[in-house]
Amino acid sequence: MNILLTGGMGYIGSHTATLLLNMGHQLHIYDNLCNSNIDTLDRIKKITSKEVGFTQGDIRDTKKLTEVLINEKIDAVIHLAGLKAVGESTQKPIEYYANNVQGSISLIQAMQAANIRTLVFSSSATVYGDPIYLPYDEEHPTSPTNPYGRNKLQIEEMLLDLANSDNTWSIARLRYFNPVGAHESGLIGEDPNGIPNNLMPVIGQVVDGRLPMLNIFGDDYDTPDGTGKRDYIHVMDLAEGHLAALTWLKGNLGCHTFNLGSGNSVSVLELLHCFENISGNKIPYQVVARRPGDLPEYYAKADKAAKILGWQTKRNLTDICNSSWLWFQNSKNKKST
Ligand code: NAD
Ligand code: UFG
Repeated sequence: MNILLTGGMGYIGSHTATLLLNMGHQLHIYDNLCNSNIDTLDRIKKITSKEVGFTQGDIRDTKKLTEVLINEKIDAVIHLAGLKAVGESTQKPIEYYANNVQGSISLIQAMQAANIRTLVFSSSATVYGDPIYLPYDEEHPTSPTNPYGRNKLQIEEMLLDLANSDNTWSIARLRYFNPVGAHESGLIGEDPNGIPNNLMPVIGQVVDGRLPMLNIFGDDYDTPDGTGKRDYIHVMDLAEGHLAALTWLKGNLGCHTFNLGSGNSVSVLELLHCFENISGNKIPYQVVARRPGDLPEYYAKADKAAKILGWQTKRNLTDICNSSWLWFQNSKNKKST
């Protein structure tokens, strides 16, 4: 298949790219590099020994996007391009709506112009909001609590309206839980610009001395050790979820929603201790106030993806910490050269 990957130079996109290339697909990445680096392209080529096309462009540039879709004879799109920091979305909501919602409208218009009707969309467990019950299944009511989550829900709803209005579309809306870990080569992983928001990149910056310690946001939740619990999913399992969804969509029309999670939740302290054991590093930490908007615990009911897509996670917390540790060591070497 000829696949266009929007946001393919980012964390999830670059890992997904290696898998798709290794499975024999042709790939073209479309990314404006606002949160990624051109070096990643060479790393993807190094891991796969395959050629990969790249256009630097914004998804809101409908004309440019349409030209790429037509010229590259694209069959299907995996849409990962977007801004993703929950906190930042509350500070800059209009930037988030413009980039994420307007950008997705532009992509749909370009796909319509190029007559492409197969789409996998990166959504998020954030669309569920406060749990009414756990685990979240795909039928759980949606009530996001921040602009980023509302962007994702608006795009999801737009895609459903689109599929209802035109029965030639095949769309998968993938609700990711907490992606972590890195490629087994140690060549690509997550390394956000500035001070990270997410737990594993913060641990990475403590390991390499960029941050003095980890702040644990609360140890007084109603969980066994008092720290927040999440459903962490290895980024290569997530990449396999995209491949499974894309393969399944080829024989199925309509708009479909799938949770991509492991079905288990792990606390901050459990993840931290696993990482310390694997890396042999003691991670200094202090417990600080709860982070506004954080939930005590959530995790996926992942049965639907298993039953319909034949997909489930294969990697565990040890694999997550091993791959992250390898990536942190490699990226530290990279920074000091
Ligand atoms: P990332 O920031 O590493 O990657 C996103 C990529 O999109 C970057 O390379 C960025 O340069 C590009 N991009 C952003 N806006 C663009 C635009 N207007 N035009 C072209 N390119 C643009 O993020 P990620 O973690 O790889 O996330 C990928 C997708 O998955 C995002 O849509 C995100 O919302 C979603 N998601 C991420 C998580 C997570 O915790 N990482 C969880 C749920 C959903
Ligand atoms: N945490 C800390 N200290 C930190 C960072 C995080 O204690 O410095 C804790 C949080 O309080 C939470 C857990 O670690 O209990 C995970 O927090 P993350 O920030 O890593 O992830 P979130 O669960 O808040 O959200 C992430 C992404 C969202 C995405 C969601 C999907 O940031 O974009 O997962 O489930 F939508």
